[in-house]
Amino acid sequence: MRYLALAVLTSVSTADYVWPGEHDHMEDLLYLQFGFNRFGFVDGILSCGFGQSVQGSQNSAEWIRTAYHDMATADVEAGTGGLDMSIMFELNRDENRGNAFGNTFGHLANFYATRSSGADLLARVCWRSRSVCGGYDVLLRVGRIDATEAGRSGVPEPQQDLDTHTKMFAMQGFNQTEMIELVACGHTLGGVHHEDFPEITGVDTKGQVTHFEYGNSNTAFDNQVVTEYLQGNTSNPLVSGSNDTTNSDKRIFAAGGNKTMQALSDPTYFQERCQSLMTRMIDTVPSTVTLSEPLTPIDIKPYINMLALNTKGTLDFSGYIRVRYGADTGRSADDLAAYITYTDRSGKNVSTPINGVRSTYQGGTAVGFHDTNFVFFAWDTQLDAAAGISKFHIHVTTKSTNETVVYENGGAGFPVQDTVLYQRHQSCLSFAQNGNGGWDGSITVVAAVRSDALNASASAVLALHFASHVSQGAGLDRLEVQVEKFVRTEQTVAGYELFEAKGMAINQRSDSTTFDIVLDEATKVDFQLTSPLKQESCKPLVQ
Ligand code: HEM
Ligand SMILES: *[C@@H]1O[C@H](CO)[C@@H](O)[C@H](O)[C@H]1NC(C)=O
Ligand SMILES: *[C@@H]1O[C@H](CO)[C@@H](O)[C@H](O)[C@H]1NC(C)=O
Ligand SMILES: *[C@@H]1O[C@H](CO)[C@@H](O)[C@H](O)[C@H]1NC(C)=O
Ligand SMILES: *[C@@H]1O[C@H](CO)[C@@H](O)[C@H](O)[C@H]1NC(C)=O
Ligand SMILES: *[C@@H]1O[C@H](CO)[C@@H](O)[C@H](O)[C@H]1NC(C)=O
Ligand SMILES: *[C@@H]1O[C@H](CO)[C@@H](O)[C@H](O)[C@H]1NC(C)=O
Ligand SMILES: *[C@@H]1O[C@H](CO)[C@@H](O)[C@H](O)[C@H]1NC(C)=O
Repeated sequence: MRYLALAVLTSVSTADYVWPGEHDHMEDLLYLQFGFNRFGFVDGILSCGFGQSVQGSQNSAEWIRTAYHDMATADVEAGTGGLDMSIMFELNRDENRGNAFGNTFGHLANFYATRSSGADLLARVCWRSRSVCGGYDVLLRVGRIDATEAGRSGVPEPQQDLDTHTKMFAMQGFNQTEMIELVACGHTLGGVHHEDFPEITGVDTKGQVTHFEYGNSNTAFDNQVVTEYLQGNTSNPLVSGSNDTTNSDKRIFAAGGNKTMQALSDPTYFQERCQSLMTRMIDTVPSTVTLSEPLTPIDIKPYINMLALNTKGTLDFSGYIRVRYGADTGRSADDLAAYITYTDRSGKNVSTPINGVRSTYQGGTAVGFHDTNFVFFAWDTQLDAAAGISKFHIHVTTKSTNETVVYENGGAGFPVQDTVLYQRHQSCLSFAQNGNGGWDGSITVVAAVRSDALNASASAVLALHFASHVSQGAGLDRLEVQVEKFVRTEQTVAGYELFEAKGMAINQRSDSTTFDIVLDEATKVDFQLTSPLKQESCKPLVQ
């Protein structure tokens, strides 16, 4: 039996959202899956049985198992551990056998950044794993922080007795009823790999798996693991294994006289309990971490692609207006138009509209988790550098009624700082083969700082915060922010002085990372991607 994903979107309220928001990047990862400007987070798990051609590998099952093994080292009373990616440092333990963890990191690494922690990504893939298999999908809380070292040991193993398991789950915050439920929820997908647990499966055939359920049910988030158990005929090798010592599911499921399993034989109750307990599983974090409210899709969200001096001495200003549409919004993509107006540096409104043009690639629309739909309008204009810009206003018109709504970002307008600019076309990134079979990178970043905001000390103040990848030999790199000083170039263009962080050496793993250009906390250009710089050639800004 299959269940439709239950999207909890009935009362979306984005009234409190103010751009730019702390979790904008995570929101993009969640809600831009297909179509225009997609982030492609779903590509690693297009179906429940998807295993990227690795024999015996089922990503949905591996990702949920990884999330549980990461969380299992929590001590809720002490407020330590939980979903914190400490699993990266725990792979050499016998309690973490198999390739599941490395495979999971391989997928997460593509999306890992200073604004998307490994632990938040792991939480999200755990949800996606359940929903793509027909279980409920829910909105994600974010803000998890990655551990920098191993946690305590304590992932349950099949040969341990019921009392040991009950105590282990208690430390993770689950009583015995909840232990039974959570194990049933986990063991509805996948199975036991012969090569990792030959003592359980009785055979050691590479790439073979004995599934927890008969038929194709290992690719459905359903309660067949429960009903098979109750009928006394189950393929679950942790129930019907020939050596009772490793039949941990048999001991756990029977705890308390089967009452919990009987209750779980109601499919709706099974989904509800899995929803509740798996939420607790991924939302268990160290006491020092505060999770956000569930991340709802943002209705009106701008993206600035560029605010930079050009060779004509004006400012190139381009970006996108992203508008959510669909039944619950009252907006229809084809009936919308959008433009912006702006306020200059002195506070004067410039009312000439800067038109947004609906993007044509993929119809200019994108789809994300929870069936969220967006349409994109691109603007691209030039501004007078002397007058500058301090904020902009988004106008969305319903064409059929000619009605225009002005969005003011909670009242203050959408803020733009024009004191420090990132000169992407003057910046570049290149890699050259070194003698050791690897690649050495070199990155140059050019920034412009408004002369009237400068004084003699400013060149010592302007810094590049580069998020470099540092290997820790455990699948997922650690991001270390490397601070580089910009040097004053003495070149002045249209009231701005150019600064350069030149020829900084970077390692090959840092070819797709991010950096911030920082004058001070309030004056910075942040979270810029290095990857577009591979197409740039450090062209001087000549007029
Ligand atoms: C006493 C507790 C538990 C024990 C002893 C246990 C043991 C095992 C073992 C031995 C495997 C086979 C792993 C492999 O061959 O790759 C497995 C697989 C799995 N476990 Fe558990 N488990 C427990 C609890 C949980 C919980 C709480 C969850 C998640 C909520 C979970 C999720 C999974 C999943 C999804 C798989 C399938 C992995 C795959 O097919 O690649 N397990 N478990
Ligand atoms: C576990 O906690 C739930 C919810 O508080 C409760 O209903 C259940 O009876 C408890 N089970 C045990 C074995 O204490
Ligand atoms: C629990 O269910 C299993 C599987 O049907 C059965 O073998 C066992 O006897 C039951 N235990 C109790 C106490 O009813
Ligand atoms: C157990 O169930 C499987 C799958 O439904 C079936 O093929 C098998 O014959 C059953 N075995 C017994 C002993 O009932
Ligand atoms: C059953 O499994 C346990 C734990 O792995 C092992 O110590 C024992 O030798 C096994 N018994 C048999 C008969 O294989
Ligand atoms: C500037 O324009 C915006 C958008 O049209 C408007 O909301 C705001 O009230 C205007 N401010 C002034 C001072 O006119
Ligand atoms: C829509 O409104 C604008 C200004 O509010 C007006 O200039 C324009 O003529 C109107 N267009 C139609 C088709 O009513
Ligand atoms: C010089 O500029 C820096 C950076 O803008 C600022 O922090 C500092 O207070 C300024 N010093 C003076 C003397 O204006």
